[in-house]
Amino acid sequence: MRLWLLIAILFVFGCENIDGDLHDQVSFRVQESPRRLNPVGSVPVYNRKIDYSNVDAVTLAPPFQLGTEAADRGKKLYSIYCLVCHGKTGEADTKVAGKLDVTPFDLTELTDSTDGEIFWKILASDSIMTKYRNELTDKEAWEITAYVRKLQEAK
Ligand code: HEC
Repeated sequence: MRLWLLIAILFVFGCENIDGDLHDQVSFRVQESPRRLNPVGSVPVYNRKIDYSNVDAVTLAPPFQLGTEAADRGKKLYSIYCLVCHGKTGEADTKVAGKLDVTPFDLTELTDSTDGEIFWKILASDSIMTKYRNELTDKEAWEITAYVRKLQEAK
């Protein structure tokens, strides 16, 4: 009986440091250090970027229709990321292109490539052209692909 009493006392004593009041916790304001990082092992649900380097490009298919709407958004992105080398028409007739050792591809010639292959080249290019994995989301790369298709149709 005394033992139970002792255990009960120890239990209550042990609980003394458990404070359920959230006001007393250490808290930091926005942009105040230390910066709170994601818990170790957590899996991001949004903006997760897949590394496509070892993925077979032909197996990749757009998750939405690469129509006019996607191409319109792709046009803006193309003018930011691609136009300087691949040109307004996609034919790589730019001043910058002329100065490069390796001539940028004429994108209007890539009609035999699948959408997945163009998407893959943008995000995981194994050529001399840089990968745009850090700059673009999957959605944006598909939108640029849609615009490349429009450039091909316009030729
Ligand atoms: C700094 C110049 C530059 C920029 C900017 C650039 N490219 Fe390229 N691109 C190149 C060069 C150079 C090649 C040729 C690479 C080769 O032949 O190895 C190329 C090749 C390609 C190819 C064909 C790759 C192949 O191997 O078949 C595609 C598709 C392409 N670029 C799309 C794009 C798109 C879309 C963008 C914008 C997101 C872009 N590029 C931005 C220089 C550039």
